[in-house]
Amino acid sequence: PSCGALERERTLAMIKPDGLSGNYSQKIKEVILQSGFDIVQEAVVRLDAERASVFYAEHSERSFFESLVKYMTSGPVLAMVLERPDAISHWRTLIGPTDARKAKTSHPNSIRAMCGLDSEKNCVHGSDSPQSAAREISFFFGDVKSVTVEHDEL
Ligand code: TYD
Ligand code: MG
Repeated sequence: PSCGALERERTLAMIKPDGLSGNYSQKIKEVILQSGFDIVQEAVVRLDAERASVFYAEHSERSFFESLVKYMTSGPVLAMVLERPDAISHWRTLIGPTDARKAKTSHPNSIRAMCGLDSEKNCVHGSDSPQSAAREISFFFGDVKSVTVEHDEL
């Protein structure tokens, strides 16, 4: 029904290889929990080139794609399903702009400002729409329906 603001929503967050190897996971999780998200699922995953290419398929024609896939396969990532009202846009706001260098000046309190390096090595991911969130949650954790049932029943 239409009680929009209170309806809980899920998004896919990911700590990318540099974030995980740089020991930022704990700090990032603190921000997540202090911001009122529940971490519904989490998994450390090692992506191979094929899986990383599927995850970022929308960018496959971009000049940075090959380098992006290399980066995303350079070490394990931590995938998390985050839940709260307005989770998708709230998480995107917390992580800040794609280019971590710009984040450091324009959004100094953002997560990418804290642990990112540039427009490629930006340490975290966030789904950009309900469609992406559904696809990305199911990419890492399987069928979305099987994990949303409890809240649909409330
Ligand atoms: P994009 O979806 O534009 O950014 P976001 O992660 O903020 O949704 O791009 C996806 C990823 O592609 C981005 O996190 C890092 C990589 N990327 C580059 O390596 N170079 C670039 O110039 C851009 C725009 C993105
Ligand atoms: Mg994106």
